[in-house]
Amino acid sequence: MDVNVQDTVNLIQNRSGIGKVDVALVLGSGLSSFIDEIEGTSIDYSDLPDFPHAGVSGHAPKLKLATIGGTNIAILGGRMHYYERGEADVMRFPLEVIAGLETTKLILTNAAGSVREAYQPGSLLRISDHLNFSGLNPLIGEETDRRFVALDGAYDAEIGAALDASAAAVGVELPNGVYTWFSGPSFETPAEIRATQVLGGDAVGMSTVPEVILARFLGLRVGAISTITNMGAGMSDENLSHEHTKNMAPIGSAKLAKVLKHYLENYKG
Ligand code: HPA
Repeated sequence: MDVNVQDTVNLIQNRSGIGKVDVALVLGSGLSSFIDEIEGTSIDYSDLPDFPHAGVSGHAPKLKLATIGGTNIAILGGRMHYYERGEADVMRFPLEVIAGLETTKLILTNAAGSVREAYQPGSLLRISDHLNFSGLNPLIGEETDRRFVALDGAYDAEIGAALDASAAAVGVELPNGVYTWFSGPSFETPAEIRATQVLGGDAVGMSTVPEVILARFLGLRVGAISTITNMGAGMSDENLSHEHTKNMAPIGSAKLAKVLKHYLENYKG
């Protein structure tokens, strides 16, 4: 393990008293309030050397370590995006630290636009696969043969089924679909949204896909959920903006919090 990764792992273990993490969660734009609902040890990203500080409003740049129902969890209150620095592998170090904590499962969340009328703002969509329309890959430059990561089954079927069961148990609808990564930070054009519909996407967003690729590279099993904050460009009269994303995210995030809490409380190994 990289020496800086090990140092950061040690720091987190010493501060929190938690040795091994079972499940890690990454919270997306406007979804960070969940971190404050969980009691545990909070560590600011700025206290973690080499941890990229999420610079986007609507994120909480801190890590929380907690134990829920016997399950050790780590929550990243925010992520850094490709569009902030132009680095597709910007989340590599935090995810290496998560893997260094012996985490086996990673649940990624994000705010996303819907390209299907069936998925309306305020609803949740479990990601079952993705389209990478960015042309980018966080493993470009990786020199070992480990870079040839298989991405079939990238979204773990067992985690997906457990998330679906949790959603059903708390009475939240959780259809599944294909998330489409655009680099951002500009929103898509109406033509790009129409192309996404034709090519099999169900939602569009500016994150998550590079983290899924890195997570599979690091051997983590992945689950992912989008909260739909808006219809894709050209599908409604709404003006798209980050402000709008942040205002709409709490509607879905209340449902997301219920699903995640149930999943974590009932998580069995
Ligand atoms: N497009 C891209 N990213 C997003 C959107 C969108 O419509 N909504 C929230 N994040």
